[in-house]
Amino acid sequence: VVGDQAWREEILRLAAEQDAVVLAHNYQLPEIQDVAHHTGDSLALSRIAAESTASTIVFCGVHFMAETAKILSPDKRVLIPDERAGCSLADSITADQLRAWKAEHPGAVVVSYVNTTAAVKAETDICCTSSNAVDVVRSIPADREVLFLPDQFLGAHVQRETGRENLHVWAGECHVHAGINGAELAERAAAAPDAELFIHPECGCATSALYLAGEGGVPAEKVRILSTGGMLDAARGTSASSVLVATEVGMLHQLRQAAPNVDFRAVNDRASCRYMKMITPAALLRCLREGLDEVHVDPDTASQARSAVRRMIEIGR
Ligand code: 13P
Ligand code: SF4
Repeated sequence: VVGDQAWREEILRLAAEQDAVVLAHNYQLPEIQDVAHHTGDSLALSRIAAESTASTIVFCGVHFMAETAKILSPDKRVLIPDERAGCSLADSITADQLRAWKAEHPGAVVVSYVNTTAAVKAETDICCTSSNAVDVVRSIPADREVLFLPDQFLGAHVQRETGRENLHVWAGECHVHAGINGAELAERAAAAPDAELFIHPECGCATSALYLAGEGGVPAEKVRILSTGGMLDAARGTSASSVLVATEVGMLHQLRQAAPNVDFRAVNDRASCRYMKMITPAALLRCLREGLDEVHVDPDTASQARSAVRRMIEIGR
């Protein structure tokens, strides 16, 4: 049966035979996370992909992640088990829209979240992920205008943390995180007064979380705005017995493994990314057996995007 022990052994055998490293994002199905050689957030997986000596990278995540690996390692074969695994956030800005925005702000530094297409990265000065967005923006001289895209909630988080007034934010969003709203969070927090709150900065409720920490009666130190990798580090160090988690529900699997004694609950248990869940055990098996789907990035686009992605993996080490 796909997903069982025989499937696991077959995946690992095929991977070894093909000199492939299998990477899985923290939002993948539990079976996929458990069989992967490495799991992590977008930044950690980009770094692992760049440093791996394997000749094939199998990226269990969404398309922009596999594309980023290909940009960093153009000579490697990069596979994704289902190339239809897109991202609503990456779709919220096109390269043409970015060129038009840049024309309105000549000389501005363009910071793009890694959740963008290769064509958008090719128009970018520095990429970032949720775990180093604040460091990336802080690395830019204070007198330079910054165009931050495409996520408005991550942009608002960066604006709050840096206090920067010359930061312009694109109005994109991820449908999964935008849907985790403040009212839901306030209700859950009121029902669990001892719980810590782990909030991904892409969430629509991130601003409400800070309001709760200010005036809503939740102690400020209990509200943490974190990337998925940051949530795992925080889980290992927490003294709380329960944590409310505002992000895609796949994250709960890693959190529960990292801190088995902590009660992790989703703020919104319908927050599941249909794109992430396209990477099924059957799709991973097919991928390794048939070498599909292979990810290609136009070489000119890749070479224009490479320095922005390289800067991303260097900042915040
Ligand atoms: P991180 O793993 O970098 O926190 O990203 C979250 C995300 O939405 C990826 O699609
Ligand atoms: Fe994109 Fe949102 Fe899915 Fe992440 S959770 S891959 S940002 S649609």
